[in-house]
Amino acid sequence: MKKKLIAGNWKMNGSLAANVALLQALQAGGANASSDMAVCVPGVYLSQVAQLLQGSTISLGAQDVSSFDSGAYTGETSAGMLREFGVRYAIVGHSERRQYHGETDAVVAMKTQKALAAGITPIVCVGETLAEREAGKTEEVVKRQLAAVIHANGHCISEIVVAYEPVWAIGTGKTATPAQAQEVHAVLRAQLLAATPQADRVHILYGGSMNAANAAELLAQKDIDGGLVGGASLKAPDFLAIAAAA
Ligand code: PGA
Repeated sequence: MKKKLIAGNWKMNGSLAANVALLQALQAGGANASSDMAVCVPGVYLSQVAQLLQGSTISLGAQDVSSFDSGAYTGETSAGMLREFGVRYAIVGHSERRQYHGETDAVVAMKTQKALAAGITPIVCVGETLAEREAGKTEEVVKRQLAAVIHANGHCISEIVVAYEPVWAIGTGKTATPAQAQEVHAVLRAQLLAATPQADRVHILYGGSMNAANAAELLAQKDIDGGLVGGASLKAPDFLAIAAAA
């Protein structure tokens, strides 16, 4: 069985002082964690967090990456720049980026490509809205989102991480049941395997209101290889409890 990956998505949270306190607590409590841990931090804190994580087993992640290499793209950060700061993971296509920043499946596929080319592991997010679930379209939506990434990246998709994050479960306290999550993870696994036989090594994370109380049951599912954790990743005891449950 592969080692689980528990990645924290800090979103637009943190401060110089709060980051120090959180990372000290995580490093003190997570030294012997049986799962791999990562923190995906706001871009301005990459340098600070890279230094704080020196010698640590916790990996550094970004929350986005540009679909371009360099040039006149105000506000963007390239994969090459992230790499310079020791970034190992980059979240790509989070539903908040899709919703508030108009990211299409094609853009997400390009971002995935740029991350891979720079040696960064993209954490590609897919997930349906509540309306889509209620209309019975969950499978269709997540397959369409992942298909765009597979199409643009071919067999390289064995190098990605996928995160299934039902939009209705993000930050709402509503979690998919372990059975609901496993059902979608199995669909995604099959789709990845159809693209390349090496895809059995791809981590498929669950995200959406994962917390210390529900993590163990979710992480016990056959195709759930870890978690992408938002709110609970900002509290060291909660994040450590999720990592311990893995
Ligand atoms: P949440 O966020 O754990 O706060 O629901 C997860 C995410 O958006 O990655």
